[in-house]
Amino acid sequence: MAKFRIGVLTGGGDCAGLNSAVKWVVKTAMDSRLEKERGIQCEVLGIRDGWKGLVLPPPDTFDESQHVCCLTEDIVRTWDRHGGTNLGSSRTNPYNPKDYRVEEVKKHIEKLQLNALVAIGGDDTLGVAGQLASEGIKVVGIPKTIDRDIVLTDYTLGYETALNVITEEVDRLRTYAGSHQVVFVIETMGRHAGWLALEGGEASGAYIILIPEYDFSMERVDELVLQGVREGNRYNIIMVAEGASPAGYSTFTKKEETDEFGHVFLGGIGNYVAQEIEKGTKLMTRSMALGYLQRGGAPCAYDRRMGRYFGIAAVDLIIQENYGRMVSFQNGKITSVPIEDIVGKTQTVDVKTLYDTERLNGRRTILNLPKQ
Ligand code: F6P
Repeated sequence: MAKFRIGVLTGGGDCAGLNSAVKWVVKTAMDSRLEKERGIQCEVLGIRDGWKGLVLPPPDTFDESQHVCCLTEDIVRTWDRHGGTNLGSSRTNPYNPKDYRVEEVKKHIEKLQLNALVAIGGDDTLGVAGQLASEGIKVVGIPKTIDRDIVLTDYTLGYETALNVITEEVDRLRTYAGSHQVVFVIETMGRHAGWLALEGGEASGAYIILIPEYDFSMERVDELVLQGVREGNRYNIIMVAEGASPAGYSTFTKKEETDEFGHVFLGGIGNYVAQEIEKGTKLMTRSMALGYLQRGGAPCAYDRRMGRYFGIAAVDLIIQENYGRMVSFQNGKITSVPIEDIVGKTQTVDVKTLYDTERLNGRRTILNLPKQ
């Protein structure tokens, strides 16, 4: 039977659901019943640490200790329960103009005799996959990011688990805020998209939600906080996305430099909002950035299931020789879209239909929305 070798890698920020996707790539590729139907025998190599694993020259053996390892059904059996990525990840960008390593990647794909590659990642990792695809590399993509900001898909792996983390952490912070009558500002991740703050805030019942898609005014925030106190709130929870900012301000960043893909490191808005509220209302105010907690922990049931479906669909694309495509979830169905159509775009919150700019919170009408 003809042999076929598939490589799989996870790139960018880790999150829940990645290991489930890898497991189902392996199980689907190596399924003995499907093998007979397809007339090819697949094997799967795990590439460690994202694109970095292909920038490095192939090792002599593909064992666990190397940056390329053999994956079998036995090895990945329990992976769907594990958080993070067992293959490791990095933000290595082979197309970084300051450190261009694409020729190495191509050479190593050839040396490893990879017939196809599955890249699991966000906009950056998939951007590299898309460019490689346009240069003839047989690659398919699986979307992941807790930010859920990739276009042409209603789901990206890691998002639901991150929402669960936010909800659980807010429940914990409420006990302190309530006991001590504190205004508590919680900063979420999400880059330039407000999904985590908006839907995390909705799930956890935040009093105010601030998102990057709507430039808020500090005066309005203070007004709402004081109104809440007058109405009897012992404490208030305010959720703010790391990319949000008051009108007239640019986004808050933690450091000067950018990563290999040119992204700034966002952070600090939670602290700023808390200080301003304390100044403006004289109420005791504290803040906390949930940070990497949102990417951590075991995947929730939804991420395990979506990882499974995305992993299976990625192998389906390979078997159909439908390369250069990303698996996607649209209108309740798993489908696929050209990778080039998603690169460099961001799916953001539609303020008109999903956000209440008066209350600075989620929408309060769902069925009576103005016609689009
Ligand atoms: O894209 C996922 C994400 O967690 C963002 O929400 C956040 O801004 C960024 O990654 C953090 O990046 P890093 O892992 O490089 O600190």
